[in-house]
Amino acid sequence: MIVAANFKTNMTRRSTQEYMRALEAFIATGHSEDTVMVFPPATALDRWESSVIVGAQNAYATHHGAYTGEIGLEQLEEFDIRTILIGHSERRHVLGESQEEIVHKCHFYQEAGFTIVYCIGEPLEIRESGSDALMEYLEAQLEGIDLGYRNLIIAYEPVWAIGTGLTPSSDDILLIHNALKKMVQRPLLYGGSVKPNNAREIMALASVDGVLVGGASLNIDDFKSIIQATE
Ligand code: PGA
Repeated sequence: MIVAANFKTNMTRRSTQEYMRALEAFIATGHSEDTVMVFPPATALDRWESSVIVGAQNAYATHHGAYTGEIGLEQLEEFDIRTILIGHSERRHVLGESQEEIVHKCHFYQEAGFTIVYCIGEPLEIRESGSDALMEYLEAQLEGIDLGYRNLIIAYEPVWAIGTGLTPSSDDILLIHNALKKMVQRPLLYGGSVKPNNAREIMALASVDGVLVGGASLNIDDFKSIIQATE
């Protein structure tokens, strides 16, 4: 299983260091068969001698250059960061990243050999328009992405489930994951209000290869419970 923590714009460099130490100590007692990833804010990126994979929540598609406020490959390479989240719903819907920009970013970081956790997911109005509209929407978000890339991981995160405490039913997750698995044969994570009390049921679903956790990852005990739910 892959269990990933997305801190978003939370935590500091110091609190991330404390978190990583506690997480490493926990992983050292078991769970070596699981892949655990942490995506801290850019200011907390660092080089960790750890089995926990640390990734970037975002970066610009450039080695370096004149892109005020952005970081690029050079800044990630300083800390040996080799993993990146691309296409998260907050990047798409809050920060206004277009599919074209997202595809460009994917190509750039694929070229650099990164593991890409590529996020897709539908807003509520699409979900309410029925399953054909839903699958068409998700398919469009996969357009232009090299689905054969061996370091690609897909995260299905319905926008209406992110940070809301709402989740699709297990049947719905299964249905959508099964349909996605027909389009892309890569590890497929579920994200959107994954909590200690629902993680086990979600990860028990056959086409769920792991979870991407936002809010509940901020509390180390909750995140540890979610890792424990892989058992
Ligand atoms: P959430 O966020 O767990 O707080 O719903 C998930 C995500 O945005 O990746």
